[in-house]
Amino acid sequence: MKINRVVSLFFSPNGTTRQVADAIAQGVGAPERLDLDRTLFDSRWAGEPLWPGDLAVIALPVYYGRLPKLMVEFFRYIKAEGIPAVLAVTYGNRDYDDALLELKNESLDHGFIPVAAGAFVAHHCMAGKLAQGRPGPDDLAQARELGAKAAALLAGRDSLDGLDLAVKGNFPYTPGSDLPVGPGTDLSKCTRCGLCQKNCPVQAINPLNPAEIDGWRCLFCTRCIHSCPTGAKAITMPPMLEKLTILENMMAAPKENELFYL
Ligand SMILES: Cc1cc2nc3c(=O)[nH]c(=O)nc-3n(C[C@H](O)[C@H](O)[C@H](O)COP(=O)(O)O)c2cc1C
Repeated sequence: MKINRVVSLFFSPNGTTRQVADAIAQGVGAPERLDLDRTLFDSRWAGEPLWPGDLAVIALPVYYGRLPKLMVEFFRYIKAEGIPAVLAVTYGNRDYDDALLELKNESLDHGFIPVAAGAFVAHHCMAGKLAQGRPGPDDLAQARELGAKAAALLAGRDSLDGLDLAVKGNFPYTPGSDLPVGPGTDLSKCTRCGLCQKNCPVQAINPLNPAEIDGWRCLFCTRCIHSCPTGAKAITMPPMLEKLTILENMMAAPKENELFYL
């Protein structure tokens, strides 16, 4: 099976998932490449058909042991029928629980056939002391290798019939989190530049009042916190801050990436 094009589909509010997806796509080494960045709200109103000869890279971060709650939108207008895919989740050195299994099942439901997968350790965007500097050069080398091995596996096959990639995870999945919460806003620091609102992947911030966040929409992805030029957005809820400190103390030992092949 000849791969003509690698199509990289990713959601990456803070950029680490994008780095991993990029490295996997590089490793595939196809003559053509298309990146479909599904991070911003508007990007998910458009899509592309994938064709025989394509190999997809599908990458998302782990939130509370699950995928971010936007999978319907993530795959909206992406047309795939029997397209091979390399799957990746990034996680902040705690655990990825059932997220990779969920990604496998979501990918199958949307017409992809998983042929390789990886769970990659990446800087924890909430518990900032965890996994600092990751993915580093070794992680990205592993991601390139994942892409290269997937391409080599496909080169040796005429058909994808009957393939079932085993990954870690349990079903029913861990419940994740449904709390209606969001970052706090210090209006004395806010210049009303609108960057947080424009950068929010789910449009959870009121454009007329950046302190008003729709907690039911907010994923707590922290993109607004990291994109605010004046530091006006922050995690402010004491119970969450306490939990993050505990997490930083308990999960400091660096974890290895986990790779799955057929
Ligand atoms: C709401 C939320 C929940 C998270 N849950 C987990 C988790 O369950 N396990 C873990 O190890 N990391 C967790 N993380 C850390 C992210 O998976 C990690 O920082 C990821 O690399 C972010 O990807 P990005 O840089 O592409 O945005 C969580 C982060 C957020 C924002």
